[in-house]
Amino acid sequence: MTNLGPAPSTGSPLVASGLTKVYGTDHTATHALAGVSLTVSPGESVAIMGPSGSGKTTLLHCLAGIIKPTSGAVSWRGEDLTTLSEGRRTALRRQDFGFVFQSGQLLPELPAVENAALPLMLAGTPRAEATQVAARWLAHLGLAGMEQRRPGELSGGQAQRVAIARALVGSPGVVFADEPTGALDQATGAEVLSVLTGAVQASGAALVVVTHDAGVARYCSRTVTMRDGLVSGEFFAGAPAQQAPPQTPVPDAATQAAMAAHPANGAPSATQPGQSHGATR
Ligand SMILES: Nc1ncnc2c1ncn2[C@@H]1O[C@H](COP(=O)(O)OP(=O)(O)O)[C@@H](O)[C@H]1O
Ligand SMILES: [Mg+2]
Repeated sequence: MTNLGPAPSTGSPLVASGLTKVYGTDHTATHALAGVSLTVSPGESVAIMGPSGSGKTTLLHCLAGIIKPTSGAVSWRGEDLTTLSEGRRTALRRQDFGFVFQSGQLLPELPAVENAALPLMLAGTPRAEATQVAARWLAHLGLAGMEQRRPGELSGGQAQRVAIARALVGSPGVVFADEPTGALDQATGAEVLSVLTGAVQASGAALVVVTHDAGVARYCSRTVTMRDGLVSGEFFAGAPAQQAPPQTPVPDAATQAAMAAHPANGAPSATQPGQSHGATR
């Protein structure tokens, strides 16, 4: 684990089928996911866009085994994350997945290199080796010379690069990012998205990134739009235009943004909400 090469054995996709999630009960119930199926192939990058409250974070958390869906399955390397014990899910998350959140997730008292090395050290990698791998990732992400800075001594964009390094040090199969540029100005955010997608690609991992930034679609192989807990559209980089599904005659804002960012796509794909995605590439 001392190089930046592709993660080993990333040959199996992450497959979510028929995910529903209901928060609360009876009259307080919120149907955050209403039947979402999504396949993330090894090494591919998927942007998830949609209005606030459309279920993006809930979907990401179900895909990553952070929460259990109300129904449906998430299969990863021969296991169904929805039926595993909390302990097994936690172990699997640490071993196979990397995470980048909006901000504030670095430990303020630790230098950048130790923040980035943390997942390896938690997994038992000796400190010297862990910090060496972390330093290589920091350098790869343009932070050479800043290894000893604490988060308070970094700009927002630099801090997110440390978070990206931390997500990648363990050679994950999938990196999940939830609005990783939400706290950054637009120019810095665009830069961080480009660094994130490039670095994840270099690592060989797949990427699932939730974002409001329409520009992200330019860096991803696929954009999935959500609305009311359902997939409302799907766009592939460079794919020919496909017919709009009859139930979405007027694209919502996120769909229009995704269409604009993937100019080869004239309209949402014909995929119906609830169907499996990702097999049509
Ligand atoms: N822990 C929770 N308890 C109750 N309702 C929740 C919880 N998390 C999210 N929700 C609700 O589920 C819906 C989807 O939320 P979320 O997945 O966070 O959407 P998004 O990330 O697209 O903004 C929203 O209506 C939200 O209020
Ligand atoms: Mg969210």
